[in-house]
Amino acid sequence: MNLIPDLDLLTDDIDAPKLTTDEAVGTRQVYLETYGCQMNVSDSEIVASVLRENGFGLTHDADHADVVLLNTCAIRENAEQKVRHRLSHFRAAKTKHGRDLKIGVLGCMAERLREKLLDQEKLVDLVVGPDAYRDLPRLLHETDETGQAAVNVLLSREETYADIAPVRYDTNGVSAFVSIMRGCDNMCAFCVVPFTRGRERSRPVTSILSEVSQLVEHGYKEVTVLGQNVNSYRVEHDGTAVDFAELLYRISLISPELRIRYSTSHPKDCSDDLLRVHAERHNVCNYIHLPVQHGNTDVLQRMRRTYTRDEYLDLIDRARTICPGISFSTDIIAGFCGETEDEHQDTLSLLEHVGYDHAYMFMYSERPDTYAARKYTDDVPEAIKKRRLTEIIQLQTGIARARNEAEIGQEHTVLVEGTSKRSDAQLYGRTDTNKVVVFDRKDFIKGDYVNVRITDCTSATLIGTPLGKTTLETEAGRLVVA
Ligand code: 5AD
Ligand code: SF4
Repeated sequence: MNLIPDLDLLTDDIDAPKLTTDEAVGTRQVYLETYGCQMNVSDSEIVASVLRENGFGLTHDADHADVVLLNTCAIRENAEQKVRHRLSHFRAAKTKHGRDLKIGVLGCMAERLREKLLDQEKLVDLVVGPDAYRDLPRLLHETDETGQAAVNVLLSREETYADIAPVRYDTNGVSAFVSIMRGCDNMCAFCVVPFTRGRERSRPVTSILSEVSQLVEHGYKEVTVLGQNVNSYRVEHDGTAVDFAELLYRISLISPELRIRYSTSHPKDCSDDLLRVHAERHNVCNYIHLPVQHGNTDVLQRMRRTYTRDEYLDLIDRARTICPGISFSTDIIAGFCGETEDEHQDTLSLLEHVGYDHAYMFMYSERPDTYAARKYTDDVPEAIKKRRLTEIIQLQTGIARARNEAEIGQEHTVLVEGTSKRSDAQLYGRTDTNKVVVFDRKDFIKGDYVNVRITDCTSATLIGTPLGKTTLETEAGRLVVA
């Protein structure tokens, strides 16, 4: 899962549909703030839907909200600290102004911190785990009635929210998230997700396909299919097993003009069938976020990642053979338990070998209940962790820049997502390979596919000249003819 720091679900700088006056009058207003991964953004859309269906209004204005909900992340300690600060802020606002404000913690921090948040710190009125969002209206009612905190942190083996139509607040009207599975059974030694989000379960095919079809009808041009471990998707459908490759193939048939991405995947579930879907379907993007976590086989074993360095590198080679030009991003952890200098060097050499276009790089942070917390010692000193992480970031920044420089002179089909942050005269969008491109606005609008010739770059962004509007099908046809 890619971490998006401090992503507010309801921010003013997005083209979100504004609330109508009718909604805002006479209803209790909820302010919802989202931390962590794309899955949490998607979950907040479910929460918004449940609340709206039950007569609540949604507001961008925390100062005038009746209910403040924080959808939280527990993946690293600093993510939790950020949420605690926000909670103290809202608690202070409530006390100072004597407001009848209800404060709730949703998502990954709920289960583990429920006792602390409720009893020791008395920070919250509501604690709701990731599988209990349908229960939110009842819990709000309960805390209103009793004046006591209300809690539901039960994890489910079935809940996929398949029948709930997400309210897409944080949307540019072009790209949307579609959640297809929840939970994780992998138990990587460092990771708290299996404890906060529970067991893996996949959403039925029909409800996924119908959600994507509706998005297409509403003009969306890109979906990112989401799950903690999306490529382990598996369901029985009409008497046959549908795996992730098959699901992706079926989604790709919905519209030739809909781009499809997914996040996040595990190397063990990246099958050749899946790679062939990337190769054969022009609208399944040539890009995989394929977290490796580390470059040394012994560390990978300690991390319980179930593959060796060589197996991972073979997978990258296979993907590049089946699907030439495919681009990769990854997640890396520096300073895991027992990591030696030589093992760290293996991460650096793997980064050079693979040539990722992008990486999310983290310092190891011990999480309660995990295998690593129970069995290993967090013994790499902080200063060494920091130094190793800096080396990793510096190396990867250079690799990303070199890969971007190699794009100069190339043409890409870019889906326009909006106006560039730097200038109103420029638009931005992404290539099939997930690289951000900035170019002159001309007459192009959000949702257009535009052919862009790359003329310049930084390590993070490509800069280009637009050549003209196009369609995905036209570009696919051109590739076949070539
Ligand atoms: N410490 C540091 N990074 C972690 N991640 C998961 N757990 C931890 C941890 N305890 C990273 C992994 C994962 C990404 C979402 O967060 O790289 O892929
Ligand atoms: Fe965590 Fe590993 Fe599951 Fe990813 S695959 S959510 S890192 S346990």
